[in-house]
Amino acid sequence: MNLTVWPGRSLQGSLEVPGDKSLSHRAALFAALAEGESRIENFLVSGVTEAMLRCLEALGVAWKLEGETLSVQGRGLRGLRAPAAPLDCGNSATTLRLLAGAVAAGGIAAVLDGSAGLRRRPMERIAGPLREMGVEIETSEGGGAPLRLAVRAEGQKLRALDVILPVASAQVKTCLLLAALAAEGPSTIREPALSRDHSERMLRGMGVEVRSYAAENGGNVVTLTPPAGPLLPLRGALPGDFSAASFLIAAGLITPGSALVLRGVGLNPTRTGLLDALRGMGGEIEVENPRETCGEPVGDLRVRHSRLRGRTVSGELVVRMIDEFPAFAAAAAFAEGPTLVQDAGELRYKESDRISALCAELRALGVPAEEMPDGFRLPGGGALGGSVDPHGDHRLAMALAVMGLAARGPVQVAGAEIMRESFPDFAAVLAGLGAQLG
Ligand code: S3P
Repeated sequence: MNLTVWPGRSLQGSLEVPGDKSLSHRAALFAALAEGESRIENFLVSGVTEAMLRCLEALGVAWKLEGETLSVQGRGLRGLRAPAAPLDCGNSATTLRLLAGAVAAGGIAAVLDGSAGLRRRPMERIAGPLREMGVEIETSEGGGAPLRLAVRAEGQKLRALDVILPVASAQVKTCLLLAALAAEGPSTIREPALSRDHSERMLRGMGVEVRSYAAENGGNVVTLTPPAGPLLPLRGALPGDFSAASFLIAAGLITPGSALVLRGVGLNPTRTGLLDALRGMGGEIEVENPRETCGEPVGDLRVRHSRLRGRTVSGELVVRMIDEFPAFAAAAAFAEGPTLVQDAGELRYKESDRISALCAELRALGVPAEEMPDGFRLPGGGALGGSVDPHGDHRLAMALAVMGLAARGPVQVAGAEIMRESFPDFAAVLAGLGAQLG
């Protein structure tokens, strides 16, 4: 499916973005490990979360979706059933990495697999520490999926872990926290910077003792003590997805005459680096009605068209906006003066190699983007428009589409159906705000 976005119309309006992807994955899976029925509102129904739900079904978990409300019958920590066939995690690394931790805790045999794109993602980063815990796990050629986990004897616990992670990754951290639920004693995970802490918050809400503190080297240390009793079921409404909102934030900032309100957006500080980055460029973004849901901060964002100035993004800010570089680049392309992104080599291991794919497609739109090993440089000054390929990456597709709102000519995105992975109504939402699409 092609999606074409034309420049020339401002965006106006107020809307809620869909439920948070990271939290939806966690809520569905953690609820399966609890005892009793969980009821989760504002669940994100999208390609990647459907992959998680299909896998849970194959693991014997009963769930029901009514609109955006997900009910899950918990099976307890060792209650997952060995699946009859390999689990198909689709394009979703979150599904695969988190499930690996839960399967390890459950002690069942399972094969975890997914699309060709998912098979290219690095899995030794979870397999190595899981092996240290005594999990029998094999990766495939190149250290990727399919992953094969062997059954563990009834009553046998995993070894407690104390690990230093070389990269800040919430998927790796969460995988290991899940396995640590079934360890013989407390496990400690040390990351070089604080990655999103949704799992820590959610597990605490389910009655698990999880402590975290900032390390002296700027990193973060999390210690989880295996619970003596069952995990409590989940109740409540998930925040809107900040990462989904990021495309609309970029759209509002770069499209002349625009004024938007995005309601109920998750504002966990481990996720909101983009706000700091864009405000530092002159972006007018205000937070209104700060409140809390499911142990997570949320608020309404008021965004206005702004004159942006280019800047450098590096260091810990990169971790707090790791999923937002496509949206950030869409905005920075229209800033005055150059923008430089450094310390962001992790972007090469996302749904696409987000450094080379982003730079290639920006060039196709007339932005002379320069690729570097750990980032990119954009000169600023706008884009011409043209046809782009999102490389099977939902975030690239949405970011490139947004650029059509402010480019000199339209932007045509091929394979735009990939947006369904995380934001199924993206095109309809943009049209509802006044954009001209076709
Ligand atoms: C996620 C963690 C991040 C992020 C991904 C979702 C999560 O991945 O890019 O979209 O839900 O834990 P990494 O853990 O690989 O950094």
